[in-house]
Amino acid sequence: MHISLIVATDENNGIGIRGDQPAFISEDLKRFKALTTGNTIVMGRKTYQALPKGALPNRRNVVLTRQRHFSAPGCDIISQPDELNNICGPDEKVFVIGGGEVYKLFLSQSQEIYLTKIHHTFEGIDTWFPDIEDNNWEVKTTEGPFTDKKNGLSYSYINFSRRKI
Ligand SMILES: NC(=O)c1ccc[n+]([C@@H]2O[C@H](COP(=O)([O-])OP(=O)(O)OC[C@H]3O[C@@H](n4cnc5c(N)ncnc54)[C@H](OP(=O)(O)O)[C@@H]3O)[C@@H](O)[C@H]2O)c1
Repeated sequence: MHISLIVATDENNGIGIRGDQPAFISEDLKRFKALTTGNTIVMGRKTYQALPKGALPNRRNVVLTRQRHFSAPGCDIISQPDELNNICGPDEKVFVIGGGEVYKLFLSQSQEIYLTKIHHTFEGIDTWFPDIEDNNWEVKTTEGPFTDKKNGLSYSYINFSRRKI
């Protein structure tokens, strides 16, 4: 299993406001779709409930929850992070798509981070991406900055790989 985290943060690592994302960038959503389609996505129950149409099509959706009878049509449910090892094959490409709690849980097991850095500081942020240590991660590629045509936000793509020890 190859685990990557994929996330959009603001300049202070902010990722959420009242159960939603602070901003949506349409090119970033397209990139997210291109990267994750055909693979497996893992999300916390709260992030699942923020999806407007439920499970995302053409990928395996996995939801993490402690609720025994949680219903998430089209999704596999796991009740602890380790269960991912039982349900995923050795060659499966897994993207952890949030939110804050679930990024923290999988950070130490992940090999890559696909970060969309939005060059802005949003008001009212209540959920953050965990700090990553420079000792553990190296920047592999950066692209941008780009500007979103709709909302004028500037953003860059920064891909990190775990440093080999
Ligand atoms: N900017 C981005 O890229 C991005 C991406 C995704 C999400 N977000 C934002 O992040 C926010 C949601 O993040 P969040 O941290 O509040 O919630 P979350 O990580 O999406 O989900 C938390 C839930 O996951 C389950 N969970 C957590 N740890 C667990 C464990 N060890 N075992 C079993 N289940 C566990 C629990 O579900 P139960 O309570 O059901 O047991 C918990 O309430 C939203 O604002 C969302 O819009 C942003």
